[in-house]
Amino acid sequence: MLRLSKPQTSTWKRTLTTMATRAIVYESDGNPASVLSAVTCPPLPNPTGSSIALKHVLSPVHPSDINAIEGVYPYQPRPRQLDVGGRERTLRIPGNEGLGEVTDVGEAVKGLKKGDWVVFGKKQSGTWSSGQILEEKDVIKVDRESGISAVNAATLVVNPFTAYNMLSDFVDLQPGDWVVQNGANSAVGQAVITLARLRGLHTINFIRKREDLSDVQTYLKSLGATHVMTYDDLEDKTITEQVKEWTGGKDIRLLLNCVGGKATTRMLRLAGKNAHFVTYGAMAKEALSFPPSVFIFNNLTAHGFWQTEWFKQKSQQESARIIGELVKYMATGKFKEPNHEIVNINGKISDQEATTIIRDAISKVAHGSGGKKLLLQMDPVQP
Ligand SMILES: NC(=O)c1ccc[n+]([C@@H]2O[C@H](COP(=O)([O-])OP(=O)(O)OC[C@H]3O[C@@H](n4cnc5c(N)ncnc54)[C@H](OP(=O)(O)O)[C@@H]3O)[C@@H](O)[C@H]2O)c1
Repeated sequence: MLRLSKPQTSTWKRTLTTMATRAIVYESDGNPASVLSAVTCPPLPNPTGSSIALKHVLSPVHPSDINAIEGVYPYQPRPRQLDVGGRERTLRIPGNEGLGEVTDVGEAVKGLKKGDWVVFGKKQSGTWSSGQILEEKDVIKVDRESGISAVNAATLVVNPFTAYNMLSDFVDLQPGDWVVQNGANSAVGQAVITLARLRGLHTINFIRKREDLSDVQTYLKSLGATHVMTYDDLEDKTITEQVKEWTGGKDIRLLLNCVGGKATTRMLRLAGKNAHFVTYGAMAKEALSFPPSVFIFNNLTAHGFWQTEWFKQKSQQESARIIGELVKYMATGKFKEPNHEIVNINGKISDQEATTIIRDAISKVAHGSGGKKLLLQMDPVQP
């Protein structure tokens, strides 16, 4: 039995007609390409009381999911007691974010019905499975009728939220202002470009040098990027003059860092007076160092940003307001889906085949996704 938000009680009726649940699991943390496997568990029971049954429509693979499986992220998925082939095992199901479709509701559920779409209000919800039972209070309804796509809804809460808040919380940016960022082809970077464009801001974007550089530049410009360059361009000392020409000498006051390492130190040369430098990722897995001059002469302020902490500190109304705004942009085509690839784990294949698919997919992400967000689509297991 796949036990979810709380241990099941004897009042839960078993649905005999539903298909078995498939989940991606791990027992001990480590390299995801070795520790993850797919398992089949009995069908979900009928939800009772205030619980709901969900089918997971799409579940993203985020770098933080990988860090959680490696055991190097502050939050790990919780251990659950799962019935795998009749044997009870203690396993963790990764997956912090995703889109769920309500398939059934308990008699006390007030705000949701079959067919509704929801996203997850709790961290580490275990979305890398075909479905689960959760409490109504642990999900947030997304207006399916708005026309938002499944991909946008499945990736709404982590990356666009992070981009939205980083553009709002540190500097009072006005239309015509400039923002600099690295990791610009990441899902967060794409959301920063889109939201900046919607606010009339200009962006200078840095990415790694690559074979398909001009394709990525064209793509990011189609989202609204003003300039797209590589970290190698930062080695050229004339870059500061070039940027001054673009900005007309206007100070750059917000710089966003997803990467770290030497290229980020060089990017800091672009900081204007009273700039704010916000670190939200460490993709290069290298330390950050700062030229002292940016603090002394430019009065730089350096911050860290973590969306999880933001959710802890802000009210549900504030989250709902931002979700509403993002859904409106997405539903009206102003906010494109992140560049993505869907990995289907179909219900007819064996757990062993599903394990190979997930391990291959995770290795791809770990070695650089090429700016493509991987989304798992896990079907229930067919008899
Ligand atoms: N603090 C927060 O609240 C928060 C919220 C959301 C995300 N994040 C963090 O933001 C970062 C991006 O997340 P995402 O979901 O947008 O990721 P994503 O779409 O999977 O993109 C990953 C990005 O990292 C780049 N990258 C990978 N390895 C790299 C390396 N060794 N050196 C330089 N760049 C490298 C990739 O560039 P290539 O295309 O060149 O491989 C790509 O731009 C992650 O660190 C994630 O944990 C933080």
